[in-house]
Amino acid sequence: MEERKGRRIIMFPVPFPGHFNPMIQLAGIFHHRGFSVTILHTSHNFPDPSRHPHFTFRAISHKKEGEGEDPLSRSETSGLDLVSFIRVLKQKYAEPFRETLAAEVGGGETVCCLVSDAIWGRNTEDAAKEVGLRRVVLRTGGAASFRAFAAFPLLRDKGYFSALDSRLDDPVIELSPLKVKDLPIIETNDPDELYRIITDMVEGVKSSSGVIWNTFQDLERDQIMDLSSNFHVPFFPIGPFHKHNNDLPPKTKNKEDNGITNWLDKQEPKSVVYASFGSLADIEEKDFLEIAWGLRNSKQSFLWVVRPGLVRGTEGLESLPCGFMDNIGHKGKIVKWANQLEVLAHPAVGVFWTHCGWNSTVESICEGVPMICTPCFTDQRVNARYITDVWRVGKVLERNIMDKGDIEQVVRSAIIDGGDGMRDRCLGFKEMAEKCLGKNGSSSNYLDKLVRHVFTHQT
Ligand code: UDX
Repeated sequence: MEERKGRRIIMFPVPFPGHFNPMIQLAGIFHHRGFSVTILHTSHNFPDPSRHPHFTFRAISHKKEGEGEDPLSRSETSGLDLVSFIRVLKQKYAEPFRETLAAEVGGGETVCCLVSDAIWGRNTEDAAKEVGLRRVVLRTGGAASFRAFAAFPLLRDKGYFSALDSRLDDPVIELSPLKVKDLPIIETNDPDELYRIITDMVEGVKSSSGVIWNTFQDLERDQIMDLSSNFHVPFFPIGPFHKHNNDLPPKTKNKEDNGITNWLDKQEPKSVVYASFGSLADIEEKDFLEIAWGLRNSKQSFLWVVRPGLVRGTEGLESLPCGFMDNIGHKGKIVKWANQLEVLAHPAVGVFWTHCGWNSTVESICEGVPMICTPCFTDQRVNARYITDVWRVGKVLERNIMDKGDIEQVVRSAIIDGGDGMRDRCLGFKEMAEKCLGKNGSSSNYLDKLVRHVFTHQT
């Protein structure tokens, strides 16, 4: 570690897989460029440090107060109000984070900067200021969705958040090509708190010393330019993170991973529908059954991730009619979790039926796999609009009208005829991503700039 002295970065991820995974990938990129990395982590979803031997992990514990269940002690968030969850997370960790950061920085070794997830908002700003540390923000979502988050005050003033149901298909003229139904909101008992979390995130980005994006210029050039002309802080779109050289050890395969690979190996090229809705979204049991029948009736092979908590109020698989899987035989496989990067890179996968989380979106594009889009909440709605209407690498299947007949038809058309050229267009973006990461590509150049930025701003 001696040669990394004075090249230390402290990172503070938000403890959801869709946020933690890109932060760890970024840590691997920094490590590859000669930095040492310390990761401050909440006790919720605490990672296994033995899987990341290059990094130092420091647990921050929060004080448990009052009676009743502590929402942060739950390992899965199914059925929870995510907005309340994030509010509690931010509140409970503000002070412990400040204390831990001060102890880390006071330890003697020079620290170059703090990289904190944008969701922490301005909580991390004062703590970093107090110890004289520059704060760079990681935004794990795309630039297009961030534009919509940044427009929240305007959207509220113009009344876009009221009477939503009556004008879902109306255009949002200030944010073309979005429609009202694409606005990045989420079902919650506390819409005012959602507004506070989003505006705090945007303010925290504005006051940062730079923003790292898991996106690439050829995908979101206009959105990046538009944002950077309004934000006046340096932007570093260095994505896709997972395709950079990094020092992350290869994932160890378990029995289920091997079972998936063996099954995919037996399928024809581009014949499989991979269906997965990320780590947070949940669906009603009736929709789950429509999906099951739609996949079955399409007569296409499918690999479907049904993680515990996906189906509201049940374990999921117990809802399937008796003998459903026997009937499908080797045509379908249902698993609790998959190594998604590996699945998407497998030649047998022809289409990804996704909730359009940003990581899933980027991962699919990077493998040239077109998408069927069923967005559930927040940025997923914006991502889906861009996937279908701007990049034209996906088709939409709306969540509130899940119908087995529609599913059958969309799945068949996506697999059988490549979805009207969407597969070819997606392969085009895959090539662009490779170019951005290559020598003198935009992501490589921005990474060089980021490394210089982190050094220049050492205190
Ligand atoms: C959340 C939000 O929902 C999303 O909208 C936001 O952009 C990021 O935070 P999540 O819903 O989990 O993320 O979706 P996504 O961004 O796609 O991230 C899921 C991650 O888990 C991906 O990196 C994916 O590769 C991984 N994953 C998912 C698996 O490895 N296996 C699985 O079976 C499912």
